[in-house]
Amino acid sequence: MQLRSILQWHPRPRERVQRLLVLGTLLLLLGTTGRCATDAAASVSSTTTTAANVPAALTPEVAQRELAALRAEVARHDALYHQKAAPEISDFAYDQLKRRLRALEAAWPKLARATPAVSEVGDDRTGLFQTYRHRAPMLSLDKTYAEADLRAFQTRLAKQLGAAALAFVVEPKFDGLAVSVTYERGQLVRAVTRGNGVEGDDITANVLALCRLPRRLRATCDDGTPNPLPERIELRGELFVTFAEFQRLNAEREAAGETPFAHPRNLAAGAIRQRELPREATRALSVAFYGIGACEPASALPLSQQALHAQMRAWGLPGVAQVWTARGADELWAAVQALARARPGFAFPTDGAVIKLDSFAQQREVGESDHAPRWAIAYKFAPERAETLVRGITVQVGRTGMLTPVAELAPVTLGGSTVARATLHNRAELARLDIRPGDFVSVEKAGEIIPAIVGVNRAHRPADSAPYVFPAVCPACRTPVVARAGEAAVRCPNADCPAQLRRRLEHFASKACLALEGFGPATVDALVTSGRVKTLPDLYRLQRNDLTAAGLGGEKTAERLLATIAASRRAELWRFIHGLGVPQVGATSAKALARQHGSLAALAAEWAEKPELAPHRAVIAELLAAGVEPTPPSAANANLAGKTVVLTGTLPSLTRAQATAKIEAAGGKVSGSVSRKTDFVVAGAEPGAKLAQARALGVPVIDEDELLQLLAGE
Ligand code: IVH
Repeated sequence: MQLRSILQWHPRPRERVQRLLVLGTLLLLLGTTGRCATDAAASVSSTTTTAANVPAALTPEVAQRELAALRAEVARHDALYHQKAAPEISDFAYDQLKRRLRALEAAWPKLARATPAVSEVGDDRTGLFQTYRHRAPMLSLDKTYAEADLRAFQTRLAKQLGAAALAFVVEPKFDGLAVSVTYERGQLVRAVTRGNGVEGDDITANVLALCRLPRRLRATCDDGTPNPLPERIELRGELFVTFAEFQRLNAEREAAGETPFAHPRNLAAGAIRQRELPREATRALSVAFYGIGACEPASALPLSQQALHAQMRAWGLPGVAQVWTARGADELWAAVQALARARPGFAFPTDGAVIKLDSFAQQREVGESDHAPRWAIAYKFAPERAETLVRGITVQVGRTGMLTPVAELAPVTLGGSTVARATLHNRAELARLDIRPGDFVSVEKAGEIIPAIVGVNRAHRPADSAPYVFPAVCPACRTPVVARAGEAAVRCPNADCPAQLRRRLEHFASKACLALEGFGPATVDALVTSGRVKTLPDLYRLQRNDLTAAGLGGEKTAERLLATIAASRRAELWRFIHGLGVPQVGATSAKALARQHGSLAALAAEWAEKPELAPHRAVIAELLAAGVEPTPPSAANANLAGKTVVLTGTLPSLTRAQATAKIEAAGGKVSGSVSRKTDFVVAGAEPGAKLAQARALGVPVIDEDELLQLLAGE
């Protein structure tokens, strides 16, 4: 891109923002000769942004338009990140946008005051929950990507406090969702999101259902000494999903034909905001506490960050398992590097290190700005990024007919693995990014996991390049594609589409469903291409000559494949239900449906009222006609089978997790909220509002003893 064209006003806001970013990066490069672009970009921090970064060539009129455009863009990304839990750009790109905005504001303070501001903290209130006003505001953190800024941070504080080398604690920066949890006299009473920093969503019920979190603080230490409990304490921490849980839940989503989450943070934020909690997500979230909002009486406050960590451990709370301590700037930088080296071994996602003055007295002395404490700073790790060529764009057809464009890339090494493909999500997203074959794109590993294209280098775009034209027909069966109103996705509506059939068969044969050994993609492809299998039930009608004619080896292979199929006729019922590939029905839901209905015929009868499930009912009918006899789950308890139960309060002997497991094993379902559909509420000590709701709706309420009797079949 020519400098002149970058400086020109462009009618599309996205183009304008793009140009500003290019311009900002160019200026950064000019000021940091001899460095690569990523290093140069990383060497400027939000805390050191100055008017010097803004070109004098911008007239006030242009600056004002850019300021407004940037603010709107930042606000849009804030909403995508905080309210929708579906960010479109990486944190790094977002931080660059914000930095650019701050530079413009610094250069034109009058204009900045005259244009509506963007909140520093963002706003994650959804309107779905009651809101609660924090006793102390939930602030944000200043952040940097540069060592020099960390040193400057220590120098500034040392000067202010008149000390030579200050003591710091360095903690992982958890990449999740901030939460404030209040304990009153040791009892958990409330969990609230950050919201706008002043008030947030009351997500107590969801946190209790989704997290392993103690409801009571331990009043006695391990050695038997008393462990004083404050009257009321508002603890600050982060809700997050570990990599292991992320992989488990995403595998379930994919198996259920749903789009997997791009990052554990989106999963955590998405799950916690739901009114109806997905069962799969039960106990999927973890929490780590790292700070205090308010404490009454103040005399109960520990004296330092290290003492706070020890106190939280003594209360039995999940805290920050590994912290580093440092005195002075050199040790501080060494500690941050030590954390960066340990990072690949963390079970949870992190995006940096948080550096805090250890002494609470010193923290109080330096205080805070309107949006962040002055005693802490976040050092963020710049994501690993690489530029590579888009060799082509292919369009894949999923088993529900969804068309997914994929960028085929010249392979690059990123975060230790080779990346050769990246999803472009859907037609709308591809059009938004305007990625074309022949483009050079920046690829980042989102959350160190899934490669994502985060930008296009238009300067290297070939002169003859034209926008990619998304196919109007299915690439597999040539049926015109359709888009449902309000949906970004485009699908092939042909239920007999061979590409969809292949994906459906692969799913049915996969380990997560019927586990048909030998029926991998190559076998499936041969069966579909030869026309021997046109539907799922056709698998159960295969004869030896079908397999040999499809080119699947000799008699022996055919016998082996037929034996596998024959053995699967009596597979567990849930495997068949999962294998049907009904949208939203993963393995966990399939197991619940199997317990609830006990047979394919009963399930089909239940689905009779739902026209959208008609094709699946037809498959069930054919499977039964082809002689499958699924094994029903072991006898469900008639007292609980198909019942919806809500738990509230602390039960005398069972933990919530144990009660849930027992109810589910007996065929029941545990729900997080009381409605007319609830069969009964199990209430323990200090029940929440659910008890009152149950009474108001006339839902029967029982105690733990009665639950145990029902579980025993009495
Ligand atoms: S301390 C007054 N410590 O990062 C601010 N925050 O981007 C207290 N975060 O708002 C925050 N890990 O949601 C702190 N070890 C840690 C953290 C941490 C993650 C989050 C937190 C914060 C955000 C700023």
